Amino acid sequence: MKAAVITRYGSPDVIKILDVPKPTPAADEVLVRVHAATVTRTDCGLLRAHPFFMRFFTGPLRPSRTILGLDFAGEVEAVGAKTLAFKPGDRVFGMCPSNRNGAHAEYAAVPERAVATMPAGARFDEAVVCEGAFYAKAALKSIDLKPGQKILIYGASGAIGTALVQLAKAAEAIVTAVVATPHLELVKTLGADRAVDYTREDFTHIGERFDCVVDAVGKTSFFRCRRLLKPDGMFAATDLGAYWQNVVLALWSLIARRKRVVIVAPGRIEGFVGFLKGRMEAGQFRAIIDRKYPLAAIADAYRYVETGQKVGIVVITVAAD
Ligand SMILES: NC(=O)c1ccc[n+]([C@@H]2O[C@H](COP(=O)([O-])OP(=O)(O)OC[C@H]3O[C@@H](n4cnc5c(N)ncnc54)[C@H](OP(=O)(O)O)[C@@H]3O)[C@@H](O)[C@H]2O)c1
Repeated sequence: MKAAVITRYGSPDVIKILDVPKPTPAADEVLVRVHAATVTRTDCGLLRAHPFFMRFFTGPLRPSRTILGLDFAGEVEAVGAKTLAFKPGDRVFGMCPSNRNGAHAEYAAVPERAVATMPAGARFDEAVVCEGAFYAKAALKSIDLKPGQKILIYGASGAIGTALVQLAKAAEAIVTAVVATPHLELVKTLGADRAVDYTREDFTHIGERFDCVVDAVGKTSFFRCRRLLKPDGMFAATDLGAYWQNVVLALWSLIARRKRVVIVAPGRIEGFVGFLKGRMEAGQFRAIIDRKYPLAAIADAYRYVETGQKVGIVVITVAAD
Protein backbone atom coordinates (compact mmCIF):
# COMPACT_ATOMS: atom_id res chain seq x y z
CA MET A 1 0.00 0.00 0.00
CA LYS A 2 1.01 3.67 -0.35
CA ALA A 3 1.74 5.48 2.92
CA ALA A 4 3.25 8.75 4.15
CA VAL A 5 6.28 7.43 6.02
CA ILE A 6 8.61 9.16 8.48
CA THR A 7 11.84 7.46 9.53
CA ARG A 8 13.26 10.44 11.45
CA TYR A 9 11.98 13.51 13.25
CA GLY A 10 12.03 16.81 11.41
CA SER A 11 10.19 19.23 9.15
CA PRO A 12 7.53 18.08 6.64
CA ASP A 13 10.43 17.54 4.21
CA VAL A 14 11.21 14.20 5.95
CA ILE A 15 7.84 12.72 4.88
CA LYS A 16 8.12 10.26 1.97
CA ILE A 17 5.29 8.56 0.08
CA LEU A 18 6.43 4.92 -0.06
CA ASP A 19 5.08 1.44 -0.82
CA VAL A 20 4.93 -0.49 2.47
CA PRO A 21 3.25 -3.76 3.53
CA LYS A 22 -0.47 -3.59 4.30
CA PRO A 23 -1.09 -4.03 8.07
CA THR A 24 -2.68 -7.24 9.33
CA PRO A 25 -5.47 -6.66 11.88
CA ALA A 26 -4.97 -8.20 15.35
CA ALA A 27 -7.84 -10.21 16.87
CA ASP A 28 -9.58 -7.11 18.24
CA GLU A 29 -8.85 -4.89 15.24
CA VAL A 30 -10.50 -3.78 12.04
CA LEU A 31 -8.53 -3.24 8.82
CA VAL A 32 -9.86 -0.07 7.22
CA ARG A 33 -9.35 1.03 3.63
CA VAL A 34 -8.81 4.71 4.39
CA HIS A 35 -10.75 7.21 2.26
CA ALA A 36 -10.12 10.35 4.34
CA ALA A 37 -7.68 11.29 7.10
CA THR A 38 -6.57 14.57 8.66
CA VAL A 39 -3.36 16.35 9.58
CA THR A 40 -3.70 17.68 13.13
CA ARG A 41 -1.55 19.75 15.48
CA THR A 42 -0.79 16.49 17.28
CA ASP A 43 0.59 14.98 14.04
CA CYS A 44 2.77 18.09 13.65
CA GLY A 45 4.09 17.66 17.21
CA LEU A 46 4.81 13.96 16.58
CA LEU A 47 6.60 14.77 13.31
CA ARG A 48 9.02 17.20 14.98
CA ALA A 49 9.03 15.48 18.41
CA HIS A 50 7.89 18.72 19.97
CA PRO A 51 7.80 19.22 22.92
CA PHE A 52 11.11 17.38 23.42
CA PHE A 53 9.88 15.17 26.32
CA MET A 54 7.51 13.53 23.82
CA ARG A 55 10.50 11.42 22.70
CA PHE A 56 10.18 9.37 25.91
CA PHE A 57 6.90 8.08 24.49
CA THR A 58 7.50 8.20 20.74
CA GLY A 59 11.11 6.98 20.45
CA PRO A 60 14.20 8.81 21.80
CA LEU A 61 16.23 9.05 18.57
CA ARG A 62 13.79 8.19 15.80
CA PRO A 63 10.01 7.72 15.70
CA SER A 64 8.81 4.24 16.67
CA ARG A 65 5.62 5.02 14.75
CA THR A 66 6.50 5.57 11.10
CA ILE A 67 3.00 6.31 9.78
CA LEU A 68 1.16 9.16 11.52
CA GLY A 69 -2.51 10.15 11.27
CA LEU A 70 -5.13 9.90 14.02
CA ASP A 71 -8.49 10.54 12.35
CA PHE A 72 -9.82 8.27 9.62
CA ALA A 73 -12.97 7.45 7.69
CA GLY A 74 -13.23 4.60 5.21
CA GLU A 75 -14.44 1.08 4.51
CA VAL A 76 -13.80 -2.11 6.47
CA GLU A 77 -11.60 -4.44 4.41
CA ALA A 78 -11.15 -7.26 6.96
CA VAL A 79 -11.71 -7.92 10.65
CA GLY A 80 -9.72 -9.72 13.38
CA ALA A 81 -10.86 -13.08 14.78
CA LYS A 82 -12.51 -11.58 17.89
CA THR A 83 -14.08 -8.56 16.18
CA LEU A 84 -17.85 -8.94 16.15
CA ALA A 85 -19.25 -5.44 15.65
CA PHE A 86 -18.04 -4.87 12.07
CA LYS A 87 -17.86 -6.75 8.77
CA PRO A 88 -16.09 -6.14 5.43
CA GLY A 89 -17.79 -3.38 3.45
CA ASP A 90 -19.02 -1.40 6.49
CA ARG A 91 -18.47 2.36 6.19
CA VAL A 92 -16.73 3.44 9.39
CA PHE A 93 -14.87 6.30 11.06
CA GLY A 94 -12.84 6.77 14.20
CA MET A 95 -9.47 7.50 15.73
CA CYS A 96 -6.23 5.53 15.55
CA PRO A 97 -4.33 5.08 18.84
CA SER A 98 -1.30 7.39 19.04
CA ASN A 99 1.13 4.56 19.89
CA ARG A 100 0.96 2.63 16.62
CA ASN A 101 0.83 3.28 12.90
CA GLY A 102 -2.01 5.49 11.77
CA ALA A 103 -4.19 6.69 8.93
CA HIS A 104 -1.79 8.52 6.58
CA ALA A 105 -1.91 5.41 4.40
CA GLU A 106 -4.22 3.46 2.15
CA TYR A 107 -4.97 1.00 4.98
CA ALA A 108 -4.93 1.23 8.78
CA ALA A 109 -5.53 -1.42 11.46
CA VAL A 110 -7.58 0.08 14.30
CA PRO A 111 -8.92 -1.44 17.57
CA GLU A 112 -12.68 -1.90 17.23
CA ARG A 113 -13.25 0.15 20.42
CA ALA A 114 -12.08 3.25 18.46
CA VAL A 115 -14.42 2.68 15.48
CA ALA A 116 -18.11 3.36 14.76
CA THR A 117 -20.22 3.04 11.64
CA MET A 118 -20.52 6.28 9.68
CA PRO A 119 -23.22 8.79 10.66
CA ALA A 120 -26.23 8.34 8.35
CA GLY A 121 -25.82 10.27 5.12
CA ALA A 122 -22.33 11.61 5.92
CA ARG A 123 -19.46 11.72 3.42
CA PHE A 124 -16.10 10.36 4.55
CA ASP A 125 -14.54 13.85 4.70
CA GLU A 126 -17.39 15.03 6.95
CA ALA A 127 -16.79 12.30 9.52
CA VAL A 128 -13.04 12.56 9.81
CA VAL A 129 -13.22 14.96 12.74
CA CYS A 130 -12.48 12.93 15.81
CA GLU A 131 -9.39 14.40 17.48
CA GLY A 132 -10.65 17.97 17.86
CA ALA A 133 -13.97 16.70 19.21
CA PHE A 134 -12.15 14.21 21.47
CA TYR A 135 -10.28 17.03 23.22
CA ALA A 136 -13.36 19.26 23.20
CA LYS A 137 -15.33 16.54 24.99
CA ALA A 138 -12.44 16.02 27.42
CA ALA A 139 -12.41 19.79 28.09
CA LEU A 140 -16.13 19.77 28.90
CA LYS A 141 -15.60 16.83 31.25
CA SER A 142 -12.70 18.50 33.04
CA ILE A 143 -14.75 21.64 33.74
CA ASP A 144 -17.96 19.68 34.45
CA LEU A 145 -20.04 22.08 32.35
CA LYS A 146 -23.73 22.19 33.29
CA PRO A 147 -26.77 23.45 31.35
CA GLY A 148 -27.20 27.21 31.69
CA GLN A 149 -23.57 27.85 32.68
CA LYS A 150 -21.53 30.46 30.85
CA ILE A 151 -18.40 29.39 28.98
CA LEU A 152 -15.90 31.55 27.08
CA ILE A 153 -13.93 29.70 24.40
CA TYR A 154 -10.72 31.46 23.38
CA GLY A 155 -9.48 30.42 19.91
CA ALA A 156 -12.85 29.01 18.86
CA SER A 157 -11.93 28.72 15.16
CA GLY A 158 -9.47 25.80 15.42
CA ALA A 159 -10.19 22.06 15.44
CA ILE A 160 -10.75 21.91 19.20
CA GLY A 161 -12.46 25.32 19.29
CA THR A 162 -15.07 24.66 16.57
CA ALA A 163 -15.85 21.30 18.19
CA LEU A 164 -16.06 22.86 21.64
CA VAL A 165 -18.54 25.54 20.56
CA GLN A 166 -20.83 22.85 19.14
CA LEU A 167 -20.53 20.39 22.04
CA ALA A 168 -20.97 23.17 24.64
CA LYS A 169 -24.17 24.29 22.87
CA ALA A 170 -25.37 20.68 22.74
CA ALA A 171 -24.75 20.62 26.52
CA GLU A 172 -27.06 23.68 26.78
CA ALA A 173 -24.38 26.11 27.94
CA ILE A 174 -24.27 29.84 27.07
CA VAL A 175 -21.29 30.21 24.75
CA THR A 176 -19.05 33.19 24.06
CA ALA A 177 -16.52 32.50 21.29
CA VAL A 178 -13.37 34.60 20.85
CA VAL A 179 -11.99 34.59 17.28
CA ALA A 180 -10.46 36.86 14.63
CA THR A 181 -12.68 38.96 12.32
CA PRO A 182 -12.97 36.42 9.44
CA HIS A 183 -14.36 33.72 11.78
CA LEU A 184 -17.10 35.72 13.56
CA GLU A 185 -19.89 34.49 11.26
CA LEU A 186 -18.66 30.90 11.41
CA VAL A 187 -18.83 30.63 15.20
CA LYS A 188 -22.29 32.18 15.20
CA THR A 189 -23.49 29.55 12.71
CA LEU A 190 -22.01 26.90 15.02
CA GLY A 191 -24.29 28.21 17.78
CA ALA A 192 -22.20 30.72 19.75
CA ASP A 193 -24.45 33.15 21.65
CA ARG A 194 -21.83 35.89 21.45
CA ALA A 195 -18.79 36.26 19.20
CA VAL A 196 -15.91 38.53 20.24
CA ASP A 197 -13.25 39.72 17.80
CA TYR A 198 -9.87 39.51 19.56
CA THR A 199 -8.25 41.67 16.89
CA ARG A 200 -10.58 44.60 17.61
CA GLU A 201 -11.28 44.46 21.35
CA ASP A 202 -9.67 43.20 24.52
CA PHE A 203 -11.70 40.06 25.22
CA THR A 204 -10.83 40.28 28.93
CA HIS A 205 -12.83 43.54 29.21
CA ILE A 206 -16.18 42.51 27.75
CA GLY A 207 -18.13 43.13 30.96
CA GLU A 208 -19.14 39.52 31.67
CA ARG A 209 -18.09 36.79 34.12
CA PHE A 210 -17.95 33.12 33.22
CA ASP A 211 -18.20 29.76 34.95
CA CYS A 212 -15.31 28.63 32.80
CA VAL A 213 -12.83 29.91 30.26
CA VAL A 214 -11.19 27.42 27.89
CA ASP A 215 -8.05 28.37 25.99
CA ALA A 216 -8.66 26.13 22.98
CA VAL A 217 -5.59 27.28 21.07
CA GLY A 218 -2.84 27.76 23.66
CA LYS A 219 -2.52 31.50 23.04
CA THR A 220 -3.72 33.07 26.30
CA SER A 221 -3.14 32.46 30.01
CA PHE A 222 -4.90 32.05 33.34
CA PHE A 223 -3.37 35.33 34.55
CA ARG A 224 -4.85 37.19 31.59
CA CYS A 225 -8.25 35.51 31.88
CA ARG A 226 -8.79 35.40 35.65
CA ARG A 227 -10.78 38.65 35.72
CA LEU A 228 -13.30 36.92 33.42
CA LEU A 229 -13.93 34.14 35.94
CA LYS A 230 -16.67 34.02 38.57
CA PRO A 231 -15.27 33.44 42.11
CA ASP A 232 -15.58 29.67 41.68
CA GLY A 233 -14.88 29.73 37.91
CA MET A 234 -12.35 27.48 36.18
CA PHE A 235 -9.70 27.97 33.50
CA ALA A 236 -8.99 24.99 31.23
CA ALA A 237 -5.90 24.89 29.00
CA THR A 238 -5.23 22.67 26.00
CA ASP A 239 -1.51 23.48 26.13
CA LEU A 240 1.30 23.52 28.69
CA GLY A 241 1.55 27.33 28.55
CA ALA A 242 4.63 29.56 28.59
CA TYR A 243 7.30 28.10 30.94
CA TRP A 244 4.88 25.22 31.66
CA GLN A 245 2.80 27.63 33.74
CA ASN A 246 -0.41 25.67 33.19
CA VAL A 247 1.23 22.55 34.61
CA VAL A 248 2.38 24.45 37.70
CA LEU A 249 -1.03 26.09 38.16
CA ALA A 250 -2.90 22.81 37.66
CA LEU A 251 -0.67 21.13 40.26
CA TRP A 252 -1.22 24.02 42.65
CA SER A 253 -5.00 23.66 42.13
CA LEU A 254 -4.68 20.00 43.10
CA ILE A 255 -2.57 20.73 46.19
CA ALA A 256 -4.87 23.58 47.28
CA ARG A 257 -7.89 21.33 46.58
CA ARG A 258 -9.44 24.21 44.65
CA LYS A 259 -10.19 23.36 41.04
CA ARG A 260 -9.11 26.63 39.45
CA VAL A 261 -6.84 25.60 36.55
CA VAL A 262 -6.96 22.29 34.69
CA ILE A 263 -5.05 20.94 31.70
CA VAL A 264 -7.29 19.08 29.31
CA ALA A 265 -6.12 15.47 29.34
CA PRO A 266 -7.33 12.97 26.74
CA GLY A 267 -10.24 10.90 27.99
CA ARG A 268 -11.01 7.28 27.16
CA ILE A 269 -11.72 6.38 23.56
CA GLU A 270 -14.35 3.75 24.47
CA GLY A 271 -17.76 5.08 23.51
CA PHE A 272 -16.39 8.36 22.15
CA VAL A 273 -16.77 7.67 18.41
CA GLY A 274 -20.33 6.43 18.98
CA PHE A 275 -21.04 9.57 21.02
CA LEU A 276 -19.79 11.79 18.18
CA LYS A 277 -21.87 9.86 15.65
CA GLY A 278 -24.94 10.54 17.83
CA ARG A 279 -24.20 14.28 17.94
CA MET A 280 -23.75 14.34 14.13
CA GLU A 281 -26.98 12.46 13.47
CA ALA A 282 -28.82 14.78 15.87
CA GLY A 283 -27.62 17.77 13.82
CA GLN A 284 -25.59 19.07 16.79
CA PHE A 285 -22.14 18.59 15.28
CA ARG A 286 -20.61 19.04 11.85
CA ALA A 287 -17.16 19.12 10.36
CA ILE A 288 -15.61 22.47 9.50
CA ILE A 289 -13.27 21.67 6.62
CA ASP A 290 -10.63 24.25 5.83
CA ARG A 291 -8.56 22.64 3.07
CA LYS A 292 -8.18 19.24 1.38
CA TYR A 293 -4.95 17.73 0.09
CA PRO A 294 -4.32 14.42 -1.69
CA LEU A 295 -2.06 11.91 0.13
CA ALA A 296 0.73 12.68 -2.33
CA ALA A 297 0.76 16.32 -1.14
CA ILE A 298 0.55 15.57 2.59
CA ALA A 299 3.78 17.46 3.33
CA ASP A 300 2.06 20.65 2.13
CA ALA A 301 -0.84 19.88 4.47
CA TYR A 302 1.63 19.69 7.39
CA ARG A 303 3.19 22.98 6.33
CA TYR A 304 -0.23 24.63 6.38
CA VAL A 305 -1.32 23.13 9.73
CA GLU A 306 1.99 24.23 11.26
CA THR A 307 1.08 27.88 10.50
CA GLY A 308 -1.52 27.61 13.31
CA GLN A 309 -4.10 29.27 11.05
CA LYS A 310 -6.33 26.44 9.94
CA VAL A 311 -10.04 26.78 10.54
CA GLY A 312 -11.47 23.50 11.80
CA ILE A 313 -9.75 20.56 10.11
CA VAL A 314 -7.43 19.84 7.18
CA VAL A 315 -8.47 16.72 5.29
CA ILE A 316 -6.22 14.27 3.45
CA THR A 317 -8.07 12.56 0.62
CA VAL A 318 -6.62 9.06 0.35
CA ALA A 319 -9.23 7.44 -1.92
CA ALA A 320 -12.15 8.87 -3.86
CA ASP A 321 -15.45 8.85 -1.89
N1 LIG B 1 -4.10 18.70 25.34
C1 LIG B 1 -3.67 17.95 24.30
O1 LIG B 1 -3.26 16.79 24.45
C2 LIG B 1 -3.72 18.54 22.91
C3 LIG B 1 -4.02 17.74 21.81
C4 LIG B 1 -4.11 18.33 20.57
C5 LIG B 1 -3.84 19.68 20.45
N2 LIG B 1 -3.49 20.39 21.54
C6 LIG B 1 -3.19 21.81 21.48
O2 LIG B 1 -4.43 22.46 21.37
C7 LIG B 1 -4.28 23.66 20.67
C8 LIG B 1 -5.36 23.77 19.63
O3 LIG B 1 -5.26 22.76 18.67
P1 LIG B 1 -6.14 22.90 17.37
O4 LIG B 1 -5.79 21.77 16.47
O5 LIG B 1 -7.56 23.14 17.72
O6 LIG B 1 -5.52 24.26 16.79
P2 LIG B 1 -5.63 24.83 15.33
O7 LIG B 1 -6.78 24.20 14.61
O8 LIG B 1 -4.30 24.82 14.71
O9 LIG B 1 -6.03 26.36 15.69
C9 LIG B 1 -5.88 27.29 14.71
C10 LIG B 1 -6.91 28.40 14.90
O10 LIG B 1 -6.54 29.23 16.00
C11 LIG B 1 -6.74 30.60 15.63
N3 LIG B 1 -5.76 31.43 16.31
C12 LIG B 1 -4.45 31.56 16.02
N4 LIG B 1 -3.88 32.45 16.86
C13 LIG B 1 -4.84 32.87 17.70
C14 LIG B 1 -4.87 33.79 18.79
N5 LIG B 1 -3.77 34.45 19.18
N6 LIG B 1 -6.02 33.96 19.42
C15 LIG B 1 -7.14 33.31 19.06
N7 LIG B 1 -7.19 32.44 18.03
C16 LIG B 1 -6.05 32.22 17.36
C17 LIG B 1 -6.49 30.62 14.12
O11 LIG B 1 -7.24 31.64 13.49
P3 LIG B 1 -6.67 33.15 13.40
O12 LIG B 1 -5.16 33.07 13.27
O13 LIG B 1 -7.34 33.69 12.17
O14 LIG B 1 -7.12 33.80 14.66
C18 LIG B 1 -6.99 29.25 13.66
O15 LIG B 1 -8.33 29.28 13.20
C19 LIG B 1 -2.85 23.66 20.12
O16 LIG B 1 -2.09 24.51 20.93
C20 LIG B 1 -2.40 22.24 20.28
O17 LIG B 1 -1.01 22.14 20.51
C21 LIG B 1 -3.46 19.85 22.76
